Amino acid sequence: MKGIILAGGTGSRLYPLTKVTNKHLLPVYDKPMIYYPLETLINAGITEIMIVSGRGHAGHFLELLGSGMEFGIELTYEIQEGAGGIAQALGLARRWVGKENVSVILGDNIFEDSVRDAVQSFSSGAQVFLKAVPDARRFGVAEVSDQRILSIEEKPKNPKSNLAVTGLYIYDAEVFQIIKDLKPSARGELEISDVNNAYIHREMMSYSLLKGFWSDAGTFDSLVRAGIIVQEYRRLQEQP
Ligand code: DAU
Repeated sequence: MKGIILAGGTGSRLYPLTKVTNKHLLPVYDKPMIYYPLETLINAGITEIMIVSGRGHAGHFLELLGSGMEFGIELTYEIQEGAGGIAQALGLARRWVGKENVSVILGDNIFEDSVRDAVQSFSSGAQVFLKAVPDARRFGVAEVSDQRILSIEEKPKNPKSNLAVTGLYIYDAEVFQIIKDLKPSARGELEISDVNNAYIHREMMSYSLLKGFWSDAGTFDSLVRAGIIVQEYRRLQEQP
């Protein structure tokens, strides 16, 4: 299983914080943002990881993470020109992934749960991780019935559930064929929700519910909130 961290996009929602460095290198409590998704993949037992970044301050990733040796992993880097969407960024890894399965995580997503079991037992199709949230409209939202996902809607005005599709996905290599056939959405992006709906259509999608905290960190409010959650978590861990 290979791993990919998607750290492209422009970071415009966090301007001017992103004027002199990349969004995914901003601090979330005591670590740069990208450490969190990186540790999620490493804890899942993945040792070959690609970082797809945008052009903005891309060299900073190399300065921070280098070859990956410090983490006991092998890092590879790819550049996404522009910000054509999460699925476009993933498509850039096609040759590097080859015929293997791949775990994909968004560079601004912070997970408490370990996904080791899911990653280790994955065989084919796709798997997503859902979390009940109070503000589902901000996310991809899953409609679930009888242990199956019926559909995923990207940022719906009237969400069919409170289950957000978090930014962690496991795919087989078919994902690259699906991406090739995608059309840009109304906002001009290749949407990861369209990829996931293609797997749902083929009845090849499974899901699990996350138990621990999950947050994105891509807006001023979610960035602060993620930092506070991590701070509280560390304090709890330190208590005897
Ligand atoms: O956080 C989970 C949500 O992430 C999901 O529920 C949504 O279904 C999914 O579309 C995504 O929504 P966002 O609107 O929050 O995505 P955003 O544009 O903020 O991008 C999140 C990360 O994805 C970003 O930190 C880096 C990566 N990305 C994004 C774009 C648009 C890329 O690598 N390239 C891109 O072109």
